[in-house]
Amino acid sequence: MKAQAFDLQNVRIESGPLLHAMELNTDYLRKLEADRLLSRFREYAGLEPKAAHYEGWESQGISGHTLGHYISGCALMYASTGNEVLLTRVNFVVDELEYCQDAHGNGFISGIPRGKELFEEVKVGDIRSQGFDLNGGWVPLYTMHKLFAGLRDAYRLAGNQKALVIETKLGLWLEDIFAGLSKDQIQEVLRCEFGGMNEVLTDLAEDSGDDRFLALAESFYHGEVLNDLAEEKDTLAGKHANTQIPKIIGAARQYEVTGQEHYAGISRFFWDRVVNHHSYVIGGNSYNEHFGEPDKLNDRLGEGSCETCNTYNMLKLTKHMFQWDGYAAYADYYERAMYNHILASQEPVDGRVCYFVSLEMGGHKSFNSQFEIFTCCVGSGMESHSMYGSAIYFHSEDELYVNQYVPSTLTWKEQGICVKQETKFPEEGQGTLRISTEKPTKFTLKLRYPYWAEQGMSVKVNGEDIPVNVGKSSYLAVDRVWQDGDVVEYDIPMSVRIESMPDNPNRIAFLYGPLVLAGDFGPINTELGSDRAFTSVLIGDRETLTDSLIQSNVSKNVFRMKGLGYAGDHELRPFYPMHDHRYSVYWDLFTSEEWKLVEAEYREAVENNLLLEQLTVDSVQPAEMQPERDHNFEGEHVGLGKIYNRKYRDSWINGWFSFTMEVLAEEQVDLVVTYLKSNDTSVAFDITADGEQLGVGVLESEEMNKLETIRYELPQMITSSKSAVTIKFTSHEGHKVGQVARLRIV
Ligand code: AHR
Ligand code: ZN
Repeated sequence: MKAQAFDLQNVRIESGPLLHAMELNTDYLRKLEADRLLSRFREYAGLEPKAAHYEGWESQGISGHTLGHYISGCALMYASTGNEVLLTRVNFVVDELEYCQDAHGNGFISGIPRGKELFEEVKVGDIRSQGFDLNGGWVPLYTMHKLFAGLRDAYRLAGNQKALVIETKLGLWLEDIFAGLSKDQIQEVLRCEFGGMNEVLTDLAEDSGDDRFLALAESFYHGEVLNDLAEEKDTLAGKHANTQIPKIIGAARQYEVTGQEHYAGISRFFWDRVVNHHSYVIGGNSYNEHFGEPDKLNDRLGEGSCETCNTYNMLKLTKHMFQWDGYAAYADYYERAMYNHILASQEPVDGRVCYFVSLEMGGHKSFNSQFEIFTCCVGSGMESHSMYGSAIYFHSEDELYVNQYVPSTLTWKEQGICVKQETKFPEEGQGTLRISTEKPTKFTLKLRYPYWAEQGMSVKVNGEDIPVNVGKSSYLAVDRVWQDGDVVEYDIPMSVRIESMPDNPNRIAFLYGPLVLAGDFGPINTELGSDRAFTSVLIGDRETLTDSLIQSNVSKNVFRMKGLGYAGDHELRPFYPMHDHRYSVYWDLFTSEEWKLVEAEYREAVENNLLLEQLTVDSVQPAEMQPERDHNFEGEHVGLGKIYNRKYRDSWINGWFSFTMEVLAEEQVDLVVTYLKSNDTSVAFDITADGEQLGVGVLESEEMNKLETIRYELPQMITSSKSAVTIKFTSHEGHKVGQVARLRIV
């Protein structure tokens, strides 16, 4: 271990946008009603609910996930600020969970519909597991992970001893569920997303001193994913991102507690692949929740890039890695993702948060309502905006790392030192550290020299220059005996930079210092019209591009383009506070010569896409969780897979699946289905809309895996006066449904 984190209680953020985000989140946590979050926990324990459950995801199969995040969020915020109201909430929820656990009588507690029954089925080896569904429940172990984590945080951060007792009983209940399962059966269970069960069980082993939980954590080793990572193979393409990241956080914890190097290797390799090969400029990853091919991000920009939970989890992982290795690169990534994704995901006026932070060119952020939706990212948001203090400072015995430039106060108890950091960062790159010490103390102050500091960095101690003999993405170390009242001044000038897509040097983003800049296209309801296709086109020479940006004399991080935008110049502003305007983070850059050559092609491609988008009433990508949930996916004997990066659903013998899709009651619409062809002679199925036959699929072909798009007319008698119909694929007796890769109503 190179460095250690400070307890959150010892770091206070004093001002600036991170404090503002924390205040908005505190307000939200206070407004949430614990009795509503507990409603289903009481119901399933046979106790009278004290209030109705919330709606949205809290009324669905994943209900209860929010309570876990809520306990963690309140405990983190209590530790970060000392807010007693939130401590009272933590204690209240823990008491309530105790009643529920006592009522169940076997250690179990949960708000998952049919949770008790489905785990009993699993216990006796009746395992039906598919990606996001375990025995008919939506990711029940993912939801359990949130509850374990909440109890752990109540114990560790809010000092609630009872929480550990409850968590231990819950852990023993889980041990019993898994006790009789073979290794293969457990691997079958793990096919369904399970969050970071290996993380919380390892933590529980540490907190309770009971090694049985280490063994249980080991059984959550998901070979299908982790074996490749252990062999340094990046097979992440097509995998659901947020399903995997928590498994790696768990692996990191297993390394820390058990010392097994194998887990450290997995974590390091994964971190490098995700951060350096699967992430966008804002530090987020995934498109529609899934990883793509490494270093291929150009064609994966849209409303579905990037999910916020993934970055919440990557930041957790990053903190572990930093403590092992002490590399500035980890802190660099932390800074990038913290400001440009996590902070950017919160509406800066009312505190709502985004599920996806859209990177669509000309798109906008969409914030979830605070009391109705309760997506996963609403839950992780409760935690993210409570723990900004957790990654600013780290220490070893005689070193103090300043990783983030944030106005804050640190108490380093072991050394009797207090550090007060004053800065307007990230709005500007200067700041001061004031040291108070009980007695003269020798230690090395390590100031991060950020990756973006193209114009260098300077540091003064008590007015005297410190020689800078290191480069970017490292630490400038000041080793001395510190006296009470010493003052350190740092100055890290910011400049405009360009970063490109890994697979297209001419699709670029602008940054000013650590901040991603976005082009402001005006209020969300601004009609971009036919110009929309070209708002993100820039004509200029890469080498002199930044000369075409004129810095505002009011705000240093605002720039006006001059003669750069093909369809007009725009203002570039920090992305993080952008909330009610359309924007582009990425731009397509052409020289005027290149543009002459490609204009017609670019225009056609963009217009075709726009046309398809305009004509599309509804569309669904099978085998992706959220689109399937949104379209009420159902089925039996269903399979899923991916060929050449196209995901699909199919069925086994005698299977079926269906989606509910929007139609227009008064207008003729068609169903367009994209299939992957195969030479499997057992494929034969019917396609129906609300029970009416639309066609028969056979799809037998020599051209294996080629796409085939078939358009089915939806007779008006089926759609008239309806807003949605159920599209169902049913195999013929003794046959299968073929591979369905996309459905659209146009
Ligand atoms: O399935 C639970 C969570 O919901 C996933 O981790 C997230 O990606 C999804 O949307
Ligand atoms: Zn999420």
